[in-house]
Amino acid sequence: MDAIQTDALSRRYGNLTAVADVTLTVARGEVFGVLGPNGAGKTTMVRLLNGVLAPSAGSCRVLGLDPARQGSGLRRRTGVLTESPALYERMTARENLRFFGTMYGMPAGKLAARADAMLEAFGLAERADAKVGGFSKGMKQRLALARALLHEPEVLFLDEPTAALDPEAARRVTELIMEFTRQAGRTVFLCTHYLPEAQRLCDRVAVLNRGRLIATGTLAELARTLWHGTWVDVECLVASAPDLLEAVRVVAGVTDARLDEPDGTRLAVQVEGEERIPAVVRAIVERGGQVVRVNAREHTLEDVYFELQGEPAHAQPAVASETSGRGGRR
Ligand SMILES: Nc1ncnc2c1ncn2[C@@H]1O[C@H](COP(=O)(O)OP(=O)(O)O)[C@@H](O)[C@H]1O
Ligand SMILES: [Mg+2]
Repeated sequence: MDAIQTDALSRRYGNLTAVADVTLTVARGEVFGVLGPNGAGKTTMVRLLNGVLAPSAGSCRVLGLDPARQGSGLRRRTGVLTESPALYERMTARENLRFFGTMYGMPAGKLAARADAMLEAFGLAERADAKVGGFSKGMKQRLALARALLHEPEVLFLDEPTAALDPEAARRVTELIMEFTRQAGRTVFLCTHYLPEAQRLCDRVAVLNRGRLIATGTLAELARTLWHGTWVDVECLVASAPDLLEAVRVVAGVTDARLDEPDGTRLAVQVEGEERIPAVVRAIVERGGQVVRVNAREHTLEDVYFELQGEPAHAQPAVASETSGRGGRR
């Protein structure tokens, strides 16, 4: 059974369709990212999957249960970190954890030990008995994450966990997420528009735009569907023969090539696959090029995301976008 499954899931607010016809599955143990700009429908998805909202059409299942109807049983097996941490500011960190642990139905003895262990692991032990109202944003978010993980949920929902944090605090939260999501085959549903974080954490991502799912897959899968080749940057010590570019273009598997320096000391070559790179290097060496550096460009999640959302991608040279006809796609 998949951890999460949605089937043509839709949710309207009046005339506005916040989530439109989304079908996806998240396997158990997978860290799944949902990416999209503000208003894409990410939070609405989390609310649907937690039974806070009911679908307008379609359906969803979490651990095989219907969140809208079987929410109370489900909530003991899932954890959620919402956009603004739901903590009691007048209670201490320890009291907050104990309060929520009781709500999750944890036995008192186990809860006390687990709460202390979480406070320690999340760097909050020293402030365990201080009121949460005086905590920094980063500390509150760490406590909210500890709260979401307290009862060792099988599925963890994280809605923009680092959006409100400064870079240092964000990094600490991301590291805690990494540490605690790789344990015990926990499934994670992470909504974010912070792409480097998603790239570090996620096995697979879905890209949402105005409630619609526009793509799902691993970074490599998405990059393959968007771009047919790999760009390789080659650097040579001295100027190469004037016919260098022509010689490279006729190598089997080369789909495009251009000079980054007019004297041929730097060129960019697009190949169908990395296995074509040695032949390209050989062609350059045969023309007297003294190759000192060869670098295949890796696509980042950011490149993939902006290409899918219809913005030009940084990793693609402008020439490539024009010739491939993808640059202006909207
Ligand atoms: N309670 C609500 N009532 C009316 N519209 C809403 C409500 N909540 C969200 N929306 C709208 O639904 C769309 C999706 O919102 P949301 O799910 O919060 O997106 P995201 O989390 O990706 O920013 C937005 O256009 C938002 O304005
Ligand atoms: Mg949101």
